[in-house]
Amino acid sequence: MMIRLATRHDAPRLAELLKHWDRHEFEYARYANGRGPNGPGTHVAERDGTIVGWLTGSHTNENANAMEDYADLTNSRCSVLLAMYVDVAHQDSGVGTDLVEVFLEESAAEGNTMAYVHPDANADLERLRRFYERLGFTLRRPANRRISMAHWPMARDSAG
Ligand SMILES: CC(C)(COP(=O)(O)OP(=O)(O)OC[C@H]1O[C@@H](n2cnc3c(N)ncnc32)[C@H](O)[C@@H]1OP(=O)(O)O)[C@@H](O)C(=O)NCCC(=O)NCCS
Repeated sequence: MMIRLATRHDAPRLAELLKHWDRHEFEYARYANGRGPNGPGTHVAERDGTIVGWLTGSHTNENANAMEDYADLTNSRCSVLLAMYVDVAHQDSGVGTDLVEVFLEESAAEGNTMAYVHPDANADLERLRRFYERLGFTLRRPANRRISMAHWPMARDSAG
């Protein structure tokens, strides 16, 4: 398996991959129209020359203080993992783990000390949270206490 930065040439195959997942119509529409991806933050996993996984995120996020633990971090840059998807036929074989690890390496190389994700509350949430826990993320209370636990973020400090 190979993990690499996505390029705009990947748009058709990414549209093909994401059309099977109803959670990300926005990216699907972009890719289906031949736009993006470009810049850091978006990676693909290839097996035998075919893209089987995708992760998109940003390393220029500045709203860490939306979490109680990071109330002091106003205007500090951190990374956010926005979405990821692995082809159903390839799930549970390490693709997602490798994608997140590469994203975290990129985050550290960008000089960020924290990365966070909002696990999809409509997915099998317990299983999804275990996935991120194994990668060093822990559940964090949002600064807005009215947000229900199903929508809480998970964050990982660079010390692990
Ligand atoms: C979640 C996902 C990215 C993990 O990628 P993967 O390549 O399957 O993961 P790995 O093989 O590296 O690790 C396996 C672990 O991933 C998690 N996982 C795998 N499939 C999953 C699924 N359908 N739903 C929730 N978690 C899943 C489990 O924790 C699993 O460990 P377990 O078998 O001990 O329960 C992938 O399953 C997927 O694309 N799911 C659908 C889309 C999604 O939920 N994206 C995340 C949005 S935040």
